[in-house]
Amino acid sequence: MQTPAVNVPESVGPKAIEIDATRLVDELNTLAGFTSIEPSKEGTAVTRVVFTPDDLRARAWLKGLAESDGLVLREDAVGNTFFRWVGTEPELPAVATGSHFDAIPHAGMYDGTVGVIGGLEAIRALKRSGLRPRRSIELVLLTSEEPTRFGIGCLGSRLISGTLDPTRADALHGTQRGSEDETLAEVRAAAGFTGSLSTVRLNAGHYHAWIELHIEQGPLLEREGLPLGIVTHIAAPAGYRFEIQGIGGHAGALLMPDRRDALCAASEIILSIEKHTLATGKIDSVATVGICDVYPGAVNSVPSRVTLQLDIRDTDPGRREGIMEAVRRDIEDLRARRGVRVTETFVNADQPATCSPHILDVIDEASRDLGLSPKRMVSRAYHDSLFMACVAPIAMVFIPCRNGVSHRPDEYAAPADIALGTRVLASALGKLASE
Ligand code: GLV
Ligand code: MN
Ligand code: MN
Repeated sequence: MQTPAVNVPESVGPKAIEIDATRLVDELNTLAGFTSIEPSKEGTAVTRVVFTPDDLRARAWLKGLAESDGLVLREDAVGNTFFRWVGTEPELPAVATGSHFDAIPHAGMYDGTVGVIGGLEAIRALKRSGLRPRRSIELVLLTSEEPTRFGIGCLGSRLISGTLDPTRADALHGTQRGSEDETLAEVRAAAGFTGSLSTVRLNAGHYHAWIELHIEQGPLLEREGLPLGIVTHIAAPAGYRFEIQGIGGHAGALLMPDRRDALCAASEIILSIEKHTLATGKIDSVATVGICDVYPGAVNSVPSRVTLQLDIRDTDPGRREGIMEAVRRDIEDLRARRGVRVTETFVNADQPATCSPHILDVIDEASRDLGLSPKRMVSRAYHDSLFMACVAPIAMVFIPCRNGVSHRPDEYAAPADIALGTRVLASALGKLASE
């Protein structure tokens, strides 16, 4: 065990931590350049799907940055990447921060990236402050938080948490048109990530603490004029796929009374989902059908087959299941009425996460030292932290984003807010690493 050098503080307050906001924003802009679509007139549109050349270029760039900061690198079999600043007692569970930088098609440049680049800058700032952390501090880049490629979100953190079976994960197929033949096993091997996915799992208590910095992706902080939020709970997402099989035919010749139109049946399912979600009367119940694939997809052909993908979330998994049960009753009814076949495929149904009161207090204290009173709030968006909660006590720090907009090219977070969130993150990581 090494002892800390004399006269070097074990823990530093946020006032002693200086964030290089210019470098942080420059790096976010550079990262936004690793995109497979051109910038749009709505803002900086980013598309960075996991294991595409853009994702791999971004990973190589980040590794270069972290290595030049003296962080020790480890990559696992699914591409989760760990950058460690080794503490004076390296055998103790580390304190960790991180997020993702994959981006859905036509996304903005701040979702996830603020937690990755902010996490790196927080570690640099702590180094500059003279801290000698007792526990190691780790930045973690998590693989495929977005479900774009394989239809299930938080792939990397799910595998870390042990809530996704490694064999099932490797057998996941691409869910985008044209990618259905590829499995995760094939795609990750082509990207250079080999070995059994069972090695990705970490034990409960692997980390002493985990904090994720993220844009709010909602309007509340901005509306209340607050620069900072602290997340107390993360709502639980679930995913289902419905395949509706009807009978297709000629759009002119197939008479209306004889039709078994799969898209008309799918429309009823979508509206049933909306109706039963609204009927809970709770703002925490949300449901979205964001994908509707119509076969054969010709203007003069009656749809014979439709695939719907549903994303449904709630802070109360029982209430979420209640909505699903009501939708299933409606499906039974429409099956008989419309003469179509409907099959439901389970994708995932997760539990909500509760943040650690101790870490929340540490973040509160770091914020109060800067004269801030952060808002305690629920995250209705999901995050890798939902799964990191299986291996560590967790918390999240939210910063505002303009008009609450996210998953759109015009997503925007102000440099001052990013820097402030990073400063509070750094201070909290420093305190936790000294425990
Ligand atoms: C994460 O991107 C989410 O959809 O909440
Ligand atoms: Mn996202
Ligand atoms: Mn995100």
